[in-house]
Parts: sequence; C-alpha cells; structure tokens
Amino acid sequence: MSQRPYIVGNWKMHGTRAMLTEARAIDRGAERLLKAEVAIAPPTTLIHAARREAGLIGIGAQDCHAAEGGPHTGDISAAMIRDAGADFVIVGHSERRQDHGESNTDVRAKAAAAIAAGLTVIVCVGETGAERDAGQAEAVVGAQMEGSLPAGEGVAERITVAYEPVWAIGTGRVPSIDDIAAMHRSIRDKLVALYGEAGAGVRILYGGSVKPDNAAEILSVKDVGGALVGGASLTAESFLGIVVAAAEAAST
Ligand code: PGA
Repeated sequence: MSQRPYIVGNWKMHGTRAMLTEARAIDRGAERLLKAEVAIAPPTTLIHAARREAGLIGIGAQDCHAAEGGPHTGDISAAMIRDAGADFVIVGHSERRQDHGESNTDVRAKAAAAIAAGLTVIVCVGETGAERDAGQAEAVVGAQMEGSLPAGEGVAERITVAYEPVWAIGTGRVPSIDDIAAMHRSIRDKLVALYGEAGAGVRILYGGSVKPDNAAEILSVKDVGGALVGGASLTAESFLGIVVAAAEAAST
C-alpha cells in the first residue's frame, strides 16, 4: 500500500461533550499507530472541542452547505467548519441522500465548496440492496461518481471516495471480499477516467459494518485504501481495534 490506510470514524448524530474522552483516547492510540492515518467526524457541535482535545488525528464534519453564507437557517458553510478546526468534510452520505433528498448535483456542489474553503472531502457512494440484487451495483456507483465528483485542476488530490453499500450500513452485513474487490476496481477505473493519472492516487475507503474482527480482511483488498466506520467508531476501544488492523495491514 503506497499511502497510509485512512481510517475515519463517522459518529453520525451521536455524542455530547462526554464523548470527548473517546476522542482523546483515539488520539492517544493513533500516536502509537502511525502506520495508519486516523480521523473522526463528530457532530458539528463537537468539532471545536474535539480539535482541542485531539492534536494528531484529523477532525471533520459530516455535511456542509454549498453556499459561502446567506439566508440558510440551520445550515453551516464549509468555511465555518474550517474555522471551527476541521480539516475535512464527509458529503453525500446515504443517510443525507435519503433523509434530506440530496441529489448528486447537491453533493457535487458541497464537495466543490468544501475544496474551495480549503478542506479535503470524503464523497460517499453506494448502491441499495435492490440495486445490487438487480445486478446494477457498479452502474449505480459509477453514475453517482459521475454526478457527485467535482472536476477541476488539483481536485483529485483533495478527494477521497467512500464506497458504502447502503444495505451494509449498520446492519452487520458486508459484501463478499470478491464483491468489495470488484467494486473498488471499478471505482478506480472510473476515477482514472474522470481525473486521468491523478485518479490513480485517490484513496477509496470501504464503509458498512466494518468492525475490529473483519477489518484486516477488508483492508487487505487491493484498492481498499481505508475504512469509513460508523457504529464501531463510537468507542476508542473498538475504533482502535480497527486502526490496529489497518496499521498491521500497512506493515505487510
Ligand atoms: P456502520 O456505518 O459502520 O455503522 O455500518 C458506516 C457509515 O455509515 O459510515
């Protein structure tokens, strides 16, 4: 693996200030496991405090608005997220696509705004169970990439793609290793088609029911450059179990 595996915790709508002890413990653990690159995306309310508690790991947001500012009650701009101390933002998570009706066009605009504000971006894509059963998984993900990834000079360097099959999120179900390998290969091909040579260097994360006991196998798959972790990122103990697996995968 040429780059360090990137292990990102997505806390979703979990966490009050009491959870900062977990952020601190994750940061301490990451200090011992430098073969992996570690980050968490806590709720927006904790970004500033998490940045102060955790000096080493990346801190990110789970969404941003596409506009720089304006009459958008309840929304938060990429520049605000950066000002609060974040380095990156996740956009296009399937829960946002579902709960908030976000389209590929919305996701692309958010990603472009985040890059313009100096953040890096994790763009999420993934098929539903019905789409996979219909043999459409790669086509659906390819179309999401075409619609959601911003174009432009220097953009590929600031983007990570997270492949998260919707049916695997929070369910304990994961695709077979062969299916993960095939999808990541197809995402890589699409990235090269979209970005040329720079597409070969874009990290592709797998997400969906990653746990300490399945992380090593998933992370050993070619073109899996890390993991986006929901439930198992909520305690330092389980999240660091995944980081250990990633650090070991990077050493082999
Ligand atoms: P999960 O969530 O690890 O709980 O399946 C992953 C995600 O939604 O990012």
